[in-house]
Amino acid sequence: MLALAAIVAPAAIVAVLGWVSLRQWEASADLLFREQARDMAAMAVEKVEMMLRHAEDAFLDRLQALLSGTGADARALDGLLRETPLVGRLYLFDQEGRALYPAAPRAGDPAVLARLQAEILRAGWDRGAKRELIADGQVCVAVILKSRDGRPALAAYTRDREILRRDILAATLGALESPTILAVLDHEGRPVYSRAPLADATRLLAVGFREGLPNWRVAAYQPAGASPRRAVRRQVTVFTAAFAALLGVIVAGIVATWRLMRRETEMARLKSDFVANVSHDLKTPLSVIRMFGETLEMGRVTDEAKRQEYYRMITRESERLTRLIDNVLDFSRIEGGRRVYETAPTAVEPLIRDTLEAFAYPLAQQGFTVDVRVAPDLPEVVLDADAVGQALANLVDNAIKYSAGRRALTVEARVADGRLALSVADAGIGIPAAEQERIFEKFYRAGRSETEGRRGSGVGLALVKHVAEAHGGTVAVESRPGEGSRFTLRLPVAGPCRES
Ligand SMILES: Nc1ncnc2c1ncn2[C@@H]1O[C@H](COP(=O)(O)OP(=O)(O)O)[C@@H](O)[C@H]1O
Ligand SMILES: [Mg+2]
Repeated sequence: MLALAAIVAPAAIVAVLGWVSLRQWEASADLLFREQARDMAAMAVEKVEMMLRHAEDAFLDRLQALLSGTGADARALDGLLRETPLVGRLYLFDQEGRALYPAAPRAGDPAVLARLQAEILRAGWDRGAKRELIADGQVCVAVILKSRDGRPALAAYTRDREILRRDILAATLGALESPTILAVLDHEGRPVYSRAPLADATRLLAVGFREGLPNWRVAAYQPAGASPRRAVRRQVTVFTAAFAALLGVIVAGIVATWRLMRRETEMARLKSDFVANVSHDLKTPLSVIRMFGETLEMGRVTDEAKRQEYYRMITRESERLTRLIDNVLDFSRIEGGRRVYETAPTAVEPLIRDTLEAFAYPLAQQGFTVDVRVAPDLPEVVLDADAVGQALANLVDNAIKYSAGRRALTVEARVADGRLALSVADAGIGIPAAEQERIFEKFYRAGRSETEGRRGSGVGLALVKHVAEAHGGTVAVESRPGEGSRFTLRLPVAGPCRES
């Protein structure tokens, strides 16, 4: 129990610590995820800006070259626009605000132009300055260039949204590896490009562009079901389950060890009892033999009949001694797995009579009524006569030993369900139901107070059980405390016999 507490207490501490650190882990996983998403978005912004700058600088270089060379030649400019699909519309003005290109404004152009005029008036004509502004719902880039006569000219262009999406945004963001979905939102918050459908995704954060795309942003979305908290929680569940399983195994181990230890201690106690009981059991017949031996030796017994009785006494007691020693020896053989059974077809009735014969004296002396009922048509049964006789002797010995006021012994033999049923019944002290299982265990002796004064080694019934099982049979007990017991050996009539 102490060991159990020693396991459970640290386990509880570990569980609490684990829970706390998992909470922190969960929070920091979330934070980390967000930070990674922010880094990712910032990187995407930089890359898009770079790509865009690269593409447009090339365009502007060629435009400047054209202006310095042929001037605002409509054919050349048309050609340049065709070769640069990214640029949607191009406008060129001189310093007085006269349109140099295109010659005829198209639908939507006036709004753009008005916005540009206003912007230029406000900002002045500093050369090289590049500005982005929103006109007519789209981004318009204005740049001051130098015309052929050395005077500044204003170039303004819009971008083709589709080409921007395909050649710049998709080309840049499509290649970025990230657990989040990156999307580009325009100045009105409409997605221009996203790497995956945004339907169920939740927006984590957005990073604005610094140049090229005013008020546009790169937003990081978390795909549905990919929450880092949920991932951590899954791990927590797995960890908890593993921890619980481990704890279970440890507790089971401790309980098993504790049980084993208890069994071992119990066994050690039973063994020491056994030694004391056996020694005492042997002493009784020995002292009887010695007493009569000495009496005879002294030559004081002159009566021949008396002398004969003393001799018989000595023989009987030495027979009992032999039986006791055989029991212990056989038991030790069984324990060592060295007991060998030799079977042969045997008549049952003589076996019973011989066994009872050995107990004739104590039975008569204690006033037992003995009832032997052997079925008349009993066949010969294949068995080890010595072993079965010994088992029977143990049962009869117990019936005598554990008798009380009423002294009656019934030995029965019949065939039932294809098996030989040998039963020994008494009207003795009986056995409590709770003990009936255990009395067949080696060294076990039931009800200490009841058996007190009745010496025994506790191996008798273990031996009976072994004999029964070696013959492929069983032994069972029916008993009620105070009323008596009936032990029944059931052996196959021509059953298998195994060595053990
Ligand atoms: N006929 C019986 N009546 C009452 N109790 C019995 C009887 N036979 C066996 N027992 C109980 O079973 C226990 C085990 O019997 P056994 O193995 O023969 O050991 P032992 O007789 O040496 O004590 C006995 O100690 C006794 O408590
Ligand atoms: Mg016994």
